[in-house]
Amino acid sequence: MEGLSVGVRRRSVVAAAAWLPFVGASTSCTGGPEPVRGPATDLLEGRDWAHFAGAKPTSAGVRITRLDRRITRQDGGGGQPNPPVNLRGPHLVFRGAVRIEARLRRTDDTDAYLHLYGETPVVYDEWRQEPRGVRIGVAGGRVRFDRWDGDSDRPAATRTFAGDFGEDVRLAVEVRGSGLVLEADGTVLGTFAGRDVFGHGRVWFGADAQGDGEGWTLGELRALPLGRGRMAVQNAPGLEVPRSTDALRDLAADLERPIRLGTALAAGPLLTDGAYRRTAGEEFSMLTPENDFKPQFVQPRRGVFAFEEGDTLVAFAEANGMQVHAHTLVWFEALPAWMRAEMTDADRRRVMTDHIRAVAGHFRGRVAEWDVVNEPMSDEDEDYTNGNLGVRPHLWFEAMGERYIDIAFRTAREADPHAVLYLNEYGVEEDGPRWDALLALLIRLRGRGVPIDGVGFQNHEYTAGDRTDPEAFRRKVRALAGLGLKARVSEMDVLVGDGAEDEDVQARQFAGKLAVCTEEPNCTSFSTWGFTDRYGSTADIRTYPPGPGNALPWDPAYEAKPAYWALRDVLDR
Ligand code: XIL
Repeated sequence: MEGLSVGVRRRSVVAAAAWLPFVGASTSCTGGPEPVRGPATDLLEGRDWAHFAGAKPTSAGVRITRLDRRITRQDGGGGQPNPPVNLRGPHLVFRGAVRIEARLRRTDDTDAYLHLYGETPVVYDEWRQEPRGVRIGVAGGRVRFDRWDGDSDRPAATRTFAGDFGEDVRLAVEVRGSGLVLEADGTVLGTFAGRDVFGHGRVWFGADAQGDGEGWTLGELRALPLGRGRMAVQNAPGLEVPRSTDALRDLAADLERPIRLGTALAAGPLLTDGAYRRTAGEEFSMLTPENDFKPQFVQPRRGVFAFEEGDTLVAFAEANGMQVHAHTLVWFEALPAWMRAEMTDADRRRVMTDHIRAVAGHFRGRVAEWDVVNEPMSDEDEDYTNGNLGVRPHLWFEAMGERYIDIAFRTAREADPHAVLYLNEYGVEEDGPRWDALLALLIRLRGRGVPIDGVGFQNHEYTAGDRTDPEAFRRKVRALAGLGLKARVSEMDVLVGDGAEDEDVQARQFAGKLAVCTEEPNCTSFSTWGFTDRYGSTADIRTYPPGPGNALPWDPAYEAKPAYWALRDVLDR
């Protein structure tokens, strides 16, 4: 925690009269007042606030709904806040000093927060890398300020200011070198060390609603350069990227029996990292939302939906002629806490079917396929002998028994009749009781007339012991063909040790599975789980900064690795 370096509280010269511009209202960190430069630029009017999760543009400003969006860990614990960032909206680029002014209007007990990010967060489904930034807002009757320095999930500095802050509060932040001046209703609250939070000369905007109310309204948002500073407002990049004619997707489309080449993508880097965006659109003809369609992101509160990041992925696919393999409707991970809470079996079933109807209904007609049920098979030996028939006894199973799978597929088919419906599973690429139990389950589902179209084989290889033989995989694909089911490689990644030999092992693993998929008529697509070691589930996360992984065909600098060339060779022969 740090104290105020300026202890004075004084009224702004003009605050009482007109709020803008704040001529002479500023206290310099180092000397006299900095003159303002020109009029402030409106950051709401004519800018994109319509693709910002939880936000809705209205005539009174941007309405921010309370989402309570949090990240849960696999064990259901955790709860790291995951407030949305308006990555498809405006952000500032500046040099020197800049002033940002906002008006926060509240009509109930909502705590209203505006976030100014110096960098954008990277969101995994079990962790959010909290970037450098500050958050200012009104909580209760107080103004609260938090600063993150990009080296921890927790704020490095927090201050609250008591005052008579009411329903309509004007906040301003001036960024001057490494100092931040904070103002509320025309009163300077203090000057903080900024620790280079905005050292890249950029500011992205986010907003969050907390507390007991339903939301608040961002009535105004403006920015202007101060002194000799310069400032520009940038909109998000367009989603369409240039196409080549002999990328992986083109080679796969030119096969005698074309297949789709896919990868898992996240909305954040698509909007903020040009190399990620270009490679994704150029090389792949299908995308799987890595995390953005999962329940904790799309339905953070019961009946409150946030589809904006998911919509961005769909828009990217549409702009670049890609199909969306949507992932996932029913799983036992990445659930918001309310979904796991105690409830009756009937209510649990309703939660599941409501979720499927709302989410598959929202994306209806815009996604080609769905993973309806993800990872239904158990990891525990006892579930293979105790009557569970190898099906994982999680919350959905506890409420409905194995029939939760039937209900899920039937509900999904009704919600989006044209989507191809998949069950997705790991560790079933090779022979063994897990595969036997899955096959038996599929036969039961077929026998009951459940509308399932295919099975995704995740093909995660996290250790040397996870390597599987392509020929064993081929037998599984053929067994599915015998049942009239499609197959796909859904989430392949191959983690290796260091050294050239390992990259060759990795290349052979990827190529072996792709070859089977091109050769077996019921195999429809081959997808990797991310494509660059820079991001994704195999990166070394939960540390600041996260370390890169090594499981994917492109390295962190987007240089193609041997695995990429091996995939090309399979498609090109
Ligand atoms: C992974 C995500 O990629 C990670 O960000 C997260 O931390 C863990 O989950 N099987 C699945 C995917 O079906 O949804 C999982 O995704 C990886 C395993």
